[in-house]
Amino acid sequence: MSARPETKDLLKIIRNLHHIHDYTVLLERILHEARLFVRADAGTLYLRDNDKLYFNYIENDTLFPEGKSEDKFTYTDRSIPLNKSSLAGFVAVTAQPLLIDDVYALPDSLDFTFNPEFDKKSNYHTQSQLVIPLVGDNQKTLGVIQLINAQYGGKTVPFSAMDKVHISFLADHAVLALEKASMAREMVMRMVAIAELRDPYETGSHAKRVGEYALVLYDHFAESRGVSLAERNQKKEAFRAAAILHDVGKAGVSGDILAKNGHYNEKEKLLMYRHTVYGARLFPDSESLWDRIAREVVLNHHERWDGSGYPGKIKDINTNPIKFGYGKKGKEIPLSARIVAIADVYDALTSERSYKEAWTAEAALHFLKSKSDKLFDPELVGIFLKLNETLDAIKRNFK
Ligand SMILES: [Fe+2]
Ligand SMILES: [Fe+2]
Repeated sequence: MSARPETKDLLKIIRNLHHIHDYTVLLERILHEARLFVRADAGTLYLRDNDKLYFNYIENDTLFPEGKSEDKFTYTDRSIPLNKSSLAGFVAVTAQPLLIDDVYALPDSLDFTFNPEFDKKSNYHTQSQLVIPLVGDNQKTLGVIQLINAQYGGKTVPFSAMDKVHISFLADHAVLALEKASMAREMVMRMVAIAELRDPYETGSHAKRVGEYALVLYDHFAESRGVSLAERNQKKEAFRAAAILHDVGKAGVSGDILAKNGHYNEKEKLLMYRHTVYGARLFPDSESLWDRIAREVVLNHHERWDGSGYPGKIKDINTNPIKFGYGKKGKEIPLSARIVAIADVYDALTSERSYKEAWTAEAALHFLKSKSDKLFDPELVGIFLKLNETLDAIKRNFK
């Protein structure tokens, strides 16, 4: 077993957390890093929403080894009431940490009890716990980190008083990073809201679902190609924001044109095509991974595998008037845009719109399959088809 992590490792973790801009990726990292730092076998991150605590992430080395856990609880609506009767609830309400050596040996005199349901169902044995509140600037509890079963020498041991100090310190910084990420996320959603003023179908929930579909598709594709977890995590956050913003350029196109929904004459078609270029101009910084991926997605999400899409090859997107080129083909289209094209079309098909009913998931997947190799990257469609359960969960969670 490697040496116990030290304070300097904690500072490094905190520095890295401050570099993550995506709220959801950040939540996942906070739990993961906290758990590794104190060598907890398992952990749960809860987020507070009004009078409930929602399970946001769960990791458990014994039940589901690393990398395989994320699908299990990422898109969950499971929650517990926000009151002092549970361990996590107690910590959320009082904003005080709890350090418990054995949850099965708690005295009856306490406000909270341990609920053994999860242990029974999963055949797991919870013993020691360290439960830490995530307290925001306004003294309100944002959520709770619950760490389970500290490991030492192959055995479960109690968490130490030092673990409590370290994780409380980590939690304070995690909250700062979360508040920053939440501001960035709100800005992204405001940009979507501006596009929505022009095009009523580009709603916040459509944008969010496209973001989630694109993210899981990227993650499974990258995993199948052996891309390291670190690189996947770094790209995932940029992918989600880029996918959410795919149609941000519609803010620059007249609402009358967008309302025509596909029934365009030649002139109107070219006006509508402009949304890709207008949007891409919003992300000029080639040095920033976020800008780079957002520009790729926004510019190319209507390019099609067989070259039938738009805006095609353009020398300089900043020149006016815009001269549309021949459609990009196959792998000339950036991976990020090939992914978002699938996510965007899938969501448009499975959503109700004034001119059509919502298609079933099966019908939409069947359509993608029938157009794979023509409109869409066949390898990506193949992966997307296997994600049907996750796609359904996303649809349920982002209505
Ligand atoms: Fe578009
Ligand atoms: Fe869209």
